[in-house]
Amino acid sequence: MNIEEIAKQMVAKGKGILAADESTGTMEKRLKSVNVESNEKNRLHFRETLFTSPAMATCISGVILFDETIRQVSSSGISIPELIKKNGSIPGIKVDKGAKSLAGSNNEKITEGLDGLRSRMEEYYKLGARFAKWRAVYSIGSGSPSEQCIKANAHALARYAALVQEAKMVPIVEPEVLMDGEHSIDECYDVTSRVITECYKELYLQNVNLKGTVLKPNMILPGASCKNKSTTDEIAKKTLECLKKNMPKEVPGVAFLSGGQSEIEATKNLNAINKINDTSFNFTFSYGRALQQSALKTWSKSMKNTSDIQKVFDHRATMNGASTEAKWNEKLEQSFAA
Ligand code: 13P
Repeated sequence: MNIEEIAKQMVAKGKGILAADESTGTMEKRLKSVNVESNEKNRLHFRETLFTSPAMATCISGVILFDETIRQVSSSGISIPELIKKNGSIPGIKVDKGAKSLAGSNNEKITEGLDGLRSRMEEYYKLGARFAKWRAVYSIGSGSPSEQCIKANAHALARYAALVQEAKMVPIVEPEVLMDGEHSIDECYDVTSRVITECYKELYLQNVNLKGTVLKPNMILPGASCKNKSTTDEIAKKTLECLKKNMPKEVPGVAFLSGGQSEIEATKNLNAINKINDTSFNFTFSYGRALQQSALKTWSKSMKNTSDIQKVFDHRATMNGASTEAKWNEKLEQSFAA
């Protein structure tokens, strides 16, 4: 498959991406929150339980892995990327080295990881990865994000994307405007517009083939501490409008991050966006927390109870799969409890 075909498959209707690429540090936080020790064996056990779930074949188009996981061998003896492929899904890899302090700024972040990326991509290709992810983060505050932060991150994202395509893989371009803060939904709209516009300017400059990319943005939401809450319809309308205005037509689709929304919110909002989608873009999910939260809790209670853990994960994946086709509703959501 060439990169344009892979990108289309990643955002195909009915399916979405499982972001299981938490770094060791983030995974430690997640496991600590459910009172489980974070060691290599436990991290693999949880992830393998999800990767062998029935919904992998029906609702998951791709899985983003962390460097540790792409090198691990499953209990059935095949490598983790092989296991994912066996289930009809595409293995991917997080290649950024995290968001670090941006020199000369007021505590803003720049994502690092470009040095040596060409040779790392060659290795990841050999290990089975066919797409990659790089996340830039932007906070909304007084004077933030600055032009400096927006430009520096867009440049890094574009250089990353060009290197990934050179290695015959699809770059997921992830500029995440964080939900933390008191900002309004309109401020989120404006900042996200500026950020996305700058990203495409740089992707164009670096000769990235947009047909072989996937955008992973935040939805347009009020800040988590904003007093004015927004309705699902308003979120969907503003998210669609923002992306319609700022995304080039060549991009096949969008795979949203969940960014701190609850599992149900993330599903509901995606469904509402797809209900009013009048564009050529496919809108799907690339969720971490919003796909794994309940499954992680169930796993922590009884790690050996594979079928219960998988039932919980399958339900979330199926609900989000339905949302990509605007087929989700409360009744369907309740079908699990019944
Ligand atoms: P969340 O869906 O938990 O925001 O994670 C998605 C992701 O991959 C962040 O980089």
